[in-house]
Order: sequence, then structure tokens, then C-alpha cells
Amino acid sequence: MADPRARYLRQQAELGGNEVVLDGLAARRLDGSAAKAQEAAAAPTSTDDPTESPRRRAAEAPSRRADWRIGAPPIPEAGMSIVSPAIPLVGDPLAGLETLEQVAERIRSTYCCGLCQTRKNAVPGEGSATAKLVLVGEGPGATEDETGRPFVGQAGKLLEDILSAIELRREDVFICNVVKCRPPQNRKPQPDEIEACLPYLRRQLAILKPRVILALGTTAAETLLGVKKSLGALRLKVHQYDGIPLVVTYHPAALLRNPNWKKPTWDDVRIARQLLDR
Ligand code: URA
Ligand code: URA
Repeated sequence: MADPRARYLRQQAELGGNEVVLDGLAARRLDGSAAKAQEAAAAPTSTDDPTESPRRRAAEAPSRRADWRIGAPPIPEAGMSIVSPAIPLVGDPLAGLETLEQVAERIRSTYCCGLCQTRKNAVPGEGSATAKLVLVGEGPGATEDETGRPFVGQAGKLLEDILSAIELRREDVFICNVVKCRPPQNRKPQPDEIEACLPYLRRQLAILKPRVILALGTTAAETLLGVKKSLGALRLKVHQYDGIPLVVTYHPAALLRNPNWKKPTWDDVRIARQLLDR
């Protein structure tokens, strides 16, 4: 496995973050350039190697400690507080669904708006049933529609790198979207489509009860918070969704188009990461 510090530095460079000065071996090998960091990442100096001497591992341990914290912004002030409509015991067709798999099965077997007519596969979302972090995107794209899985295209790869930089694996978190079926030509989902699909997301969040929600992009942020505001106005605050801290950041697909947003995204995800530990 690649040296975790080298991987971290490569991700840091990729995300547009500040240069980091590490001690000892790493500092000599990795002098800030992404290319060199990548080279070093391939070097066989794993600190995860269980056959390595305990003494060497102990000596390297301090520099491995939560590197994402270096230069992380402080947790920002409180933002909006949203209480989602209480789920009534009678009359709500989703009220009887008690597991994520039951919700997913209902999504796959139900046609609730025009998007369901044109889908190849519904994309309910996936991840750990005990996830402390839930990531919410906009809606499935072409690859997601083909596979029935969220964030498996290019944006998904970037999302996995971002998660890895804050020491989370894709399978530790839960990843889903506001709408569960692909909008044709990847257009934005329309208000009536969002309204028809939103009960599923609400139910998923009610079942998961995560510690933190990360809204990826304007559609997720506006939908979860029930407002029309720019992403800029919603970032850098800790909102509350049913008492769960909610942080807003750029959508990974937007980062692919505009790398200038990588640094602010790196700040946002480190705010979310700190809230997980709080
Ligand atoms: N750790 C986990 O195991 N899951 C999360 O969602 C976040 C941190
Ligand atoms: N973009 C999204 O918003 N969601 C996905 O699942 C993939 C791309």
C-alpha cells in the first residue's frame, strides 16, 4: 500500500490545498510538487506493513496523525435550522419502511414522477447503515443510471478522493441523491420531480440518523434547507436539519469544471469532518 503521507500530499495538491511541511523522510521525499508526491506515493515504504518493525512504525506514527487537521478552518457559526415535516403515523406511504433496504426496494419498484419512466435503473443510494456522515448529491447521471449506484462516474472518483483525504472510506458513509432517477440529458431536476422524490430522502435520513449531513451542491442544499439561495450564501455555516448538523459544499462535478473550487471544498469537508468528532 502507498505511503499514507504521500497519498495525503498528492490529494492535498489535487484539492488545491496549502503546501504542507512534514518531518523527516516525508519532507525530503515530498517537496510540494504533485508529480514528485505521486512518484513517492508509488515508492514501497508502507507504514501499514504489519511486518515492519514496531519501533520503526512507532517512530513514524506522529506524522500520520490526522493530517487533514493541518490548516483546517475552525467550525463556523450556526446557520439555518430546519425541521422537516413530521412523518405522520397514518397516511404516509413510507411510514412503514424501517430499513434502508426497504426504502431502496420501494424506490426501485415505484413510479412516482416522469423521471421514473425514462430511467434504466433507480439509484436509491448506498453505504453503511451505521454511517455517521451522509452525503447528498443532486441526481444520478448516465453511469449511475446504468449501474443503479450513486457517484460511480468521474465525479464519484473525485468524491472518493475527497473522502479519503479526511480519512473516510466510501463504504463507511452513506451516499445518495435528492432525486433517485436520472433526469434526461443530466438536466437539473425540476421542482415537481424533487417534491415527488423528497420523501425517500427524508425517510433515509430518519432511518440513518447521521451525525453530520454534507450537501453537495445547490440542489441538495436548497432542497434540504427548503430555501432558494446561492451556494456562497449557504457555505461556511453549520445548519441544522432535524437537529443534525448540515454543511454545504460544492458538487464534485462542479469541481471538475472549476478547479478553483477545490480549496474551498477542502475547507468545507474538513469542517464536516470535525463535526463528526464533536
Ligand atoms: N466514520 C464512520 O464509520 N462512518 C462515517 O460516516 C463517518 C465516520
Ligand atoms: N452527480 C450526482 O449528483 N449524483 C450522482 O450520483 C452522480 C453524479
